[in-house]
Amino acid sequence: MILGIETSCDDSSVALVNQQGLVIDQLSKTFDEDHVSFGGIVPERASRNHLKALVPCIENILKKNTVKFSDLNAIAVTNRPGLQGSLIVGVVTAQTLSLVHDLPVVGVNHLVGHIYSAWLADDKNEIKDVVYPHLSLVVSGGHTQLVLVEDVCKYKILGKTLDDAAGEAIDKFSNVIGYGFPGGAQVDAAASKGDAQAFQFPRPLIREKNYDFSFSGLKAAGFRKVEELGADLDEGLKNDLAAAYMEAVVDVLSTKLKLALEEHKPKAFSVVGGVSANSQLRDRLEKISIEKGIPFFRPKLKYCTDNGAMIAYAGARHINQSDTANKNIQTFARSLPGDFL
Ligand code: KG4
Ligand code: ZN
Repeated sequence: MILGIETSCDDSSVALVNQQGLVIDQLSKTFDEDHVSFGGIVPERASRNHLKALVPCIENILKKNTVKFSDLNAIAVTNRPGLQGSLIVGVVTAQTLSLVHDLPVVGVNHLVGHIYSAWLADDKNEIKDVVYPHLSLVVSGGHTQLVLVEDVCKYKILGKTLDDAAGEAIDKFSNVIGYGFPGGAQVDAAASKGDAQAFQFPRPLIREKNYDFSFSGLKAAGFRKVEELGADLDEGLKNDLAAAYMEAVVDVLSTKLKLALEEHKPKAFSVVGGVSANSQLRDRLEKISIEKGIPFFRPKLKYCTDNGAMIAYAGARHINQSDTANKNIQTFARSLPGDFL
């Protein structure tokens, strides 16, 4: 059993997961409200929140499941990429526990954690083997990338965003239409009631035969459209705007994914990260899976946004291959050169 610790951004989350990806329990604390009035995450506040929340979360999850440190095989902790102050809280906590309880500690790349989130199980009969090679579309507030998962520790980035991440473009759009930050879930709900043809938004780089993404132009187009329409947007208009905006995001993501499926012919594909909770995106990818006859894996909603379970499972998969176990783990704002091929 592995204890997973995730503190790379604003959510503190811990989980107990076994070697096969079975989640025994997960405890998360979300601090979105603490950042709402700033329209984005304030790093200083995020690290202070982790400091308050993390140790009680670890104590509670062990107590609730009557698990002792001696029952654990290892601790996995996100040590890259992320906000330095936030990462440090998780890493120092993990290292201290590892020293005191003589446990190996594995530093996990947050994005690799997201990749494994699609394979987590809550019940024994949900356990599934990770399929290699598979294609993973990683879409979150900070990242948008297509990764070919060839094997454990063999992750090839086919392409990523040249500017904003998809989640960033959705969150800023949510702010301008008045749903606040982070607004992914509200934009999703509004979009499902709106008419996607009511407005036309750009689909940057959609025709380029590569895997680069760009969402800053779409973000700017969203701002301009809302400005043009004026301050008082009624609910119907907001729904139409959200539907048209999400249609543009989903068109770009799914077109690039299809291109990669055709070129690389993986055995399966997945969508992970906060934006993978989006129902318009899930529906589209489901259709592609049926159309192409390729199995599609996605995390349960509770494992889409940042969570400790995905870190524990990625740690479990990496522990035998990792030379980071039991070493002095550092934190890094970015991924390391060897993380992705
Ligand atoms: O993976 P995550 O929790 O944090 C990062 O690593 O960035 O992703 C957070 C992002 C936010 O941009 C949030 O608005 C978005 O995921 N998100 C959604 C939905 N739920 C969360 N975006 C679209 N539709 C959703 N239902
Ligand atoms: Zn994330």
